[in-house]
Amino acid sequence: MNSKREQIVAHLIGQHSPVSGDFLAAELGLSRAGIWKHIQILRDQDFDIEAIHGRGYLLKSDVLSASLLHQRLHTKRLGKTCITLDKIDSTNAEIMRQADKGADEGLVVFAEQQTQGKGRMGRSWHTLGEDALALSLLLRPNISPQYVSQLSLVTAVAIQKALSVFADDIRIKWPNDLLYHGAKIAGILTEMRAEPGLVHAVVTGIGINIRAPKQGWPDDITQAVTDLSTVAGKDICRMNVAQAIIEAMDETYDTYLAQGFDPIREQWWLAHAACNQPVRVHNGKEYIDGIAQDLDSDGALLLQTSHGLQRIITGDLELMA
Ligand code: BTN
Repeated sequence: MNSKREQIVAHLIGQHSPVSGDFLAAELGLSRAGIWKHIQILRDQDFDIEAIHGRGYLLKSDVLSASLLHQRLHTKRLGKTCITLDKIDSTNAEIMRQADKGADEGLVVFAEQQTQGKGRMGRSWHTLGEDALALSLLLRPNISPQYVSQLSLVTAVAIQKALSVFADDIRIKWPNDLLYHGAKIAGILTEMRAEPGLVHAVVTGIGINIRAPKQGWPDDITQAVTDLSTVAGKDICRMNVAQAIIEAMDETYDTYLAQGFDPIREQWWLAHAACNQPVRVHNGKEYIDGIAQDLDSDGALLLQTSHGLQRIITGDLELMA
C-alpha cells in the first residue's frame, strides 16, 4: 500500500467516531482534497470508509493489515514477518509448511477464513471472518520434544495477559482454553515437528472470538461461548488484539527461554479458573472427578480424586463449582 494511504488507514483503525479531514491533512502534510483522493483510492481497494458530512471519515470494516501491524510491534523475536491471508486451510498447517521450507522463528500468519481450521482433540475450529482472529506463530525453541507441551501453557499465559487489556476476569481453563465467566472466548492448538531428542518447529495457533456472529454461533458448538467485544462492552478491533497478543507472547516466551517453566507455571496457576476447585475431566475414555490441585512441570493437571492424586495429561475439563 502507498505509504500515505497506509497512514490514513492507521489513523482510522480502531476509531469509533469519524476522524476529521483537517486532522488527517495536518498529520500527513496534505490538503483536504489530497486526503479525499487517497480515500477514493482506498475505497476502490475495498476499504469500507464512510465520509460523514462535516465530521470526517469512519472505517467501517475491521482491517487486519500485516504491514501496519509489523510497524506497531515492539518485540524481540516474534512478528518480524507477518502475513495475512484471505483464505487458507489452516494457519497452523500454513506455518508448518513455511517451517518445512526453513522459515525463521517468529513468523506470524493470520487468516480471514480457514477452510479446515483445527481445534484440540481432532475437532474443527470455525473462523468467522472479521468476527474472529485466527493466527499461528512459528517457534524454534532449543528444548527437548518432551517439553513442547509447556509451550501451550506459555501461550495460554500470554493470551490471558493480552485479553486482560480489553476485559477483566479472563481466566485459563486447563489446559489452554480462555474463558470469561465460564464461556469460551479463545482456544490454542500447539503442534510440533520433531525427531527423537530434537524439535524442528513448534506452531502455536490461536483462535479468538472477537464479535458474536450476526447469524448466530455455528450449531455444532455445544459449549458456552462468548466474544471479546461483548465482554468488553464495546467493539474491539482485531489489530489491537493482534498487537497485544504478539507482544505478550514475545515477552512470555522470552521469560520461558531465560528462566524456564517455573515462573510460567506460577502465572498459569494464578490465572486458572479452577484452583483447588472441583472439576470433572473427560480423557476420551472416562470421566474423572476431583479437585484441581496443581499443575505439573510438564503441564499435566494434578487432580485429587477419591483414589488419590492423579496426573491428567490430556482431556476436556469441566468446572463443577
Ligand atoms: C481449541 O480450543 O480447540 C483450539 C482452537 C485453535 C484454533 C486456532 S485458529 C488459528 C490456528 N489454526 C488452526 O487451524 N487452529 C488454530
